[in-house]
Formats: sequence, C-alpha cells, structure tokens
Amino acid sequence: MKLWGGRFQKETDTLVNDFNSSIQFDQRLCREDLQGSMAHAKMLGDCGIISQKDAAAIQTGLEGILADVAAGKVEFTADNEDIHMNVETLLTQRIGEAGKRLHTARSRNDQVAVDLRLYLRREIGEIIAGILDFQKALAEQAKAHQKTVMPGYTHLQRAQPISFAQHLLAYCQMLCRDVTRLEDCGRRMNQCPLGSGALAGTTYPIDRWQTARDLGFDAPMSNSLDGVSDRDYALELLSALSILMMHLSRLAEETILWCSWEFKFIELDDAYSTGSSIMPQKKNPDVAELVRGKTGRVYGDLMALLTAMKGLALAYNKDMQEDKEPVFDAVDTVKMCLPVFTGMIRTMRVLPGNMRAAAGHGFINATDCADYLTKKGMPFRDAYTAVGKLVYYCTEHHKVLEELTLEELQSVSPLFTEDVYDALDLENCMEQRNSYGGPAIAETSRQIQEIETFVQEHTA
Ligand code: ARG
Repeated sequence: MKLWGGRFQKETDTLVNDFNSSIQFDQRLCREDLQGSMAHAKMLGDCGIISQKDAAAIQTGLEGILADVAAGKVEFTADNEDIHMNVETLLTQRIGEAGKRLHTARSRNDQVAVDLRLYLRREIGEIIAGILDFQKALAEQAKAHQKTVMPGYTHLQRAQPISFAQHLLAYCQMLCRDVTRLEDCGRRMNQCPLGSGALAGTTYPIDRWQTARDLGFDAPMSNSLDGVSDRDYALELLSALSILMMHLSRLAEETILWCSWEFKFIELDDAYSTGSSIMPQKKNPDVAELVRGKTGRVYGDLMALLTAMKGLALAYNKDMQEDKEPVFDAVDTVKMCLPVFTGMIRTMRVLPGNMRAAAGHGFINATDCADYLTKKGMPFRDAYTAVGKLVYYCTEHHKVLEELTLEELQSVSPLFTEDVYDALDLENCMEQRNSYGGPAIAETSRQIQEIETFVQEHTA
C-alpha cells in the first residue's frame, strides 16, 4: 500500500511504478534527506507541534537508519518511489506511531529542494578543492618554466614570444574565476526552502529560522512558492561547471596538440597515456581527449535542465524530478576529470628545446623589430611596413630576421644598427615584455605568487 493509499481504489500499474520512481538515482540524497528530517523533527518538537518524546524517537530512528545506510544494510525499493518515502516508510517500520508524525508541516516538495541544496553545497566544496589542486599543479610547472620560451599563437599561427609559464598561468587565472563563480553560486544557494510545504507554507507554528540555522543555511527562503519551484541554483551550478569544463577542454586540446609529433612541446607520462591495439608506436593522449569529450556531456546536462524548467507553471511539477540525473552526472564528470587532469599536468615532461626551436621560426620577433625602429623615431605604421618587407625578403631567401646582415636590414631603413641583434634575440624579446601581466620573468613571478596566495586563501 502506498503512503497516499487512502485516496486510491487500485494499485499503481507496475509500469507506472517504475516510470514514476526516482529511488534508483535519488538515493544519493539519502544522507541529506536524513539530515533535513532530523532538523525538521527537532523543530516540530521544540515548537510543540509534536511531543518531545516523539521527536526524540524520530531522531533515534533516523540516526539508526543513517548508520545502517552507511553500513550498506538498507535496501530501498521502487514501491516507495523516492528517497523521501523510502526513509519515512523505513522509519515507521522501525519506530511505529511516532514515525508517522515526521511529515507534519512538510511536503516532499520542500524536502527535495532542501536535500538538493544541501547536497550541492557539499559537492561545490569538493569541486573547488579539486580546482585548487589543479591550479597548484599548473603553478608548479609554471615555476619551472619561466625562462622556457615558446611561441605564443593567434589563429594558431606563431605570433609573439612568451614563456611556457605565461601560457599555463593564463589557465590559472581562468580557474580562479571558476572557483569564485562556484563560491558565489554556493552563497546564493545557501537559503533554506524547508517549511515552504507543498507550496503555500503551513498553518502550524513552525520555526523556519531554527531549521535554516540547524542545517547551516543563512536564512529561510522568503517565498514558499519560490522555495519549492525554483531550480536556478542547480542551473547556476551547471553553468559554472560548463564554463569550467570549457576551460579544461581548451587546455586538453592544447595538450593534445603539444604532444603530437608536429609540435612535440611536451611528452605525457606513460602512466597518463595509452597505447594502440594495432599500431605499436602509438602513445595517445586519451585523458586529454576524454576531458575534451566529456565537456559536451556537461553542456548537455545544462541544456537538459534548462529545457525541463522552461515551461513549468508554478509551483512543483513532476518534470522537476528530471533535475537530478543531469546534476549528478555533471558533478560526477567534473569530479572525475579534475584529479586525472591534475595528475597528467603534474607528470608531463616539458621539452623546452622543441619549444625554443618552434619559437625560432615564424618571425615571432617581427613586432619587436618594428618596435625597434619605432623607438628610434620612425612612426609605428611605417616601421610595420618596413619590417613586412624584411619578412617577405626572408621568406624568399629562407632566412629569419636575426640572420639578416646589417646591410640587408639597412636596405629598408638606415635606422638599423648593430644593437638590432639584441633587440631581435627571442629571450630578450620575451623579457622586455615586462608590462603588467606580460611574460617577463618578474611578471610571471608576480602571477605565480598571486596564484599561490589565491589557493591558500580559498582552501577550506
Ligand atoms: N521525487 C520527487 C522529485 O524528485 C520528490 C518530490 C515529489 N513531489 C510530488 N509532489 N510528487 O522531484
């Protein structure tokens, strides 16, 4: 017999039973469901809505269930549809009458909303810890490669000289914003829907501030309809996770390029690469490819929930049960990607010689050459044209700028003198880009310091 059996003359069709039930996936919320129920029962007792004796019996019963769940001794059933009804049924089986009083002044609608908020709040903390560790790994590699010159790219064409540190530190900055986005999301999420009831609050003299406080929320939600209807906190989290995955995916793509024979800027550790079943020579960057691939899943999770929510009249609709699987999937995916990607970055071998060789071709000091003439008085646009001519000359003669003789250089401008070779030296070119945020060693040192402080300050 269902909990709602009173109104019904027939049993639920077995197909409907399976279709309707969410216990297969929402049992993940068990701990939070018990936590919410404990706070609710205590409040009911403290407000005199149920007796203190019943409140105490419920408390003990719920603690027993929690212990048995942890020990793997509890089996949930689809007959009880979801985690909320499974727990309530189990409680009543165990403690009798008092168990039937737990659902006073409460609905599954506010119950599920509180469970999900509690659950996501905890997961956000774990994801942030994962990002911080990833940032640490990037900063460690950056520290070792402040002098490692590589070509910086635009349009995937060699553009200007940077260091490998500068490149990795760009990702560190993106990840700082991912962390603070998640923190913001956690802060906004931290309001308690419990006591919203089915949708319209309750006639019982409940204390919503007590339950909010007990569960570590900043305040009860202000509107009961909003409390049970809204899932924007889950959507906000999915958006933040999508952006995070987009960042990971870009670095994954670069890792894949960098370990190709065409680039060979890095070599992945054997423990973080895979072989081919047929081609004996292969060493594949599967980890990076999977991170890139799984990014699509997380975007899909966001779209699934956005779409599920878009047409729902207030307040609760069963469509909202579809919130859980995408949210769980996104959380699982991100939590799987972060540590494995961190390990891959930590263990990869950087090949500075190959980066330097790539930097030596592609005229990435052409801007510096134009700047040289500009600093000697030529207007920048004229200098740009003069160096363009030199680059063309070089391509015709299979040379790079620093290989041109002074005579060849002077053919486009008499301003060139012996000191031009210093100005064209790639290490100098990089080091002279010492404007705030640039790749010069002093600036990458400042950035590394900034990241280390950030990681420290955001570690729980
Ligand atoms: N399993 C449901 C969900 O996850 C809980 C809320 C059910 N409420 C209801 N009125 N059917 O959305």
